Amino acid sequence: MHFASVPPASFAQGSMPGSRKAQAREVTSLPTTEAPQPGGLCFRPLTAEDLPLLQRWLSEGAALEWYALRVPPTAEAVSRKYLPRVRGEEPVDAKILLIAGQPAGYFQSYRLEDFPDHPAAAYAKRAAGIDFFLAQEHVGHGVGPRAIAAFVREVVFARPEVEICFADPAPRNQRSVRALRRAGFREVQGDDKSADRAALLLYIAR
Ligand SMILES: CC(C)(COP(=O)(O)OP(=O)(O)OC[C@H]1O[C@@H](n2cnc3c(N)ncnc32)[C@H](O)[C@@H]1OP(=O)(O)O)[C@@H](O)C(=O)NCCC(=O)NCCS
Repeated sequence: MHFASVPPASFAQGSMPGSRKAQAREVTSLPTTEAPQPGGLCFRPLTAEDLPLLQRWLSEGAALEWYALRVPPTAEAVSRKYLPRVRGEEPVDAKILLIAGQPAGYFQSYRLEDFPDHPAAAYAKRAAGIDFFLAQEHVGHGVGPRAIAAFVREVVFARPEVEICFADPAPRNQRSVRALRRAGFREVQGDDKSADRAALLLYIAR
């Protein structure tokens, strides 16, 4: 399989290419996912008020290294990238992870057919992709696997048309690869696993 592009997790990429404008949706309240998961995890929609927090998270530690690609984003860059997702102007489901009611990370999902440049686009039918980062204070404490599993179960597979979900971490981002495996993801068979690939493809089926 050919990996033609930087994965959409990349902050530097800005607004994802090939995206179709989604129907604007009004966010009038902040529904969280149904029952809090064990350990008090749940998700609520991203709001404009979260953007300064996103900027901070993207400027520190592991999120800076692996998600923002070592470039701390300006407030304007964060706004440019995430405000359209808050407003429902892009087909990206953007959520804040809450732990015991406190913001702890960012998770997003999207249908691959809306992003033909995604490394897993060949599998686009009935497929979704996810990206995520935790606030630095939560990195390395076992939150990620539980949060990924909860996000897939409660958000991604809540859309009945989605049957398979892909993640595309950098092969060198072993913490993410291992967190995904622990959350139940498996590597795509036959995919090139070399360390210098832009992305390693992992999937979980409904
Ligand atoms: C990726 C992320 C969500 C993982 O969540 P986490 O709670 O930090 O992960 P954990 O603490 O559960 O660690 C996951 C696994 O990685 C291992 N690990 C921890 N730190 C590691 C490191 N620096 N290098 C390699 N493996 C590491 C853990 O031992 C664990 O392995 P195991 O399950 O086989 O025991 C989180 O680290 C994060 O937000 N990173 C920054 C953003 C990012 O990389 N996003 C993913 C883009 S695809």
